[in-house]
Amino acid sequence: MLTLAIETSCDDTCAAVLSRGSDIRSNIISSQVDIHRVYGGVVPELASRQHLENIDWVVKEALSAADVELADIDHVCVTCGPGLVGSLLVGISYAKSLSFACRLPLVGVNHVEGHLMSPLLTADRPDFPFVGLVVSGGHTSIYLVRGWHDYVLLGRTIDDAAGEAFDKVAKMLDLGYPGGPVIERLAMQGNAEAIKFPRAYMGSDSLDFSFSGLKTSVRTFLEKNEKLLPGIIPDVAASFQAAVADVITRKALRAAQINGINAIALAGGVSCNQAIRDHLFRAASAQGMKVHVAQPVLCTDNAVMIGQVGYRLHRQGRSDDLGLNAFSRLRL
Ligand code: KG4
Ligand code: ZN
Repeated sequence: MLTLAIETSCDDTCAAVLSRGSDIRSNIISSQVDIHRVYGGVVPELASRQHLENIDWVVKEALSAADVELADIDHVCVTCGPGLVGSLLVGISYAKSLSFACRLPLVGVNHVEGHLMSPLLTADRPDFPFVGLVVSGGHTSIYLVRGWHDYVLLGRTIDDAAGEAFDKVAKMLDLGYPGGPVIERLAMQGNAEAIKFPRAYMGSDSLDFSFSGLKTSVRTFLEKNEKLLPGIIPDVAASFQAAVADVITRKALRAAQINGINAIALAGGVSCNQAIRDHLFRAASAQGMKVHVAQPVLCTDNAVMIGQVGYRLHRQGRSDDLGLNAFSRLRL
């Protein structure tokens, strides 16, 4: 069974081919960061236009890298939300055209479900049940994953997503977009204990997140210490990153304890961050818990994670028609 998956929910045009839902035959990602970087963030209209230019060659490249033809594909999956509607519509329209022209079954997939289950794409995959964290630019949520399509939302951000905080702090420091990788790089040269930025735990049992106070605190600190710039930037980056790592780690461990679970799966763009991974790995292993994270290329946006979920939905008999629409918000 060969799956063709398409993902265009934000600023990466992605297509992948999977065999039996987990064997990755190809994974093509065309990043638009060079286009959006000058604006300090994703410009939705430019993203849609770029997807339109990219989608055809990205899908063809995914087929050719997998050494298959369109005629070999058994079904098509596409992200239908949440995300930028104009961007989603490009992938959805393309997938619908393929579905119609080649008589292929079509399945719409939730982007957050794709991220949440991406740690299952590794050899060291977690068994059910596990605590799953999606920590990306658009989402920061924590779930109890009881099985495929059986999720309980345990907590989520009440304001900014963790990746959004990285991007906004990077913007304050004039470091460009996206913020995560550049903050991680600078943090390696800084002292994570130099500045005590606040950690919003919101009560010992709360599994919700809040990053806007941390962001404001970084801004206030920079205003007060303008004269020390740019020398102090590595310390700011390291101290900010440590605050995010502390919060993510505390919430993940608490969720596991409350639910009597010893497996934690971390997903989404922020989970590429090695300092955050290490912090969580250390704290979890001290408590006899295991952490599972996919390789970085499967943590940020990609179509493999969409294909993995879409394959399962297809096998369960889910099928969408040509009325499939795009949703800026879509609950799991
Ligand atoms: O999962 P993703 O590619 O897209 C969304 O669904 O949002 O995540 C992108 C986010 C951006 O905010 C980016 O700054 C962050 O992930 N990110 C990182 C790192 N790499 C990407 N954050 C921290 N450290 C990184 N190394
Ligand atoms: Zn994403």
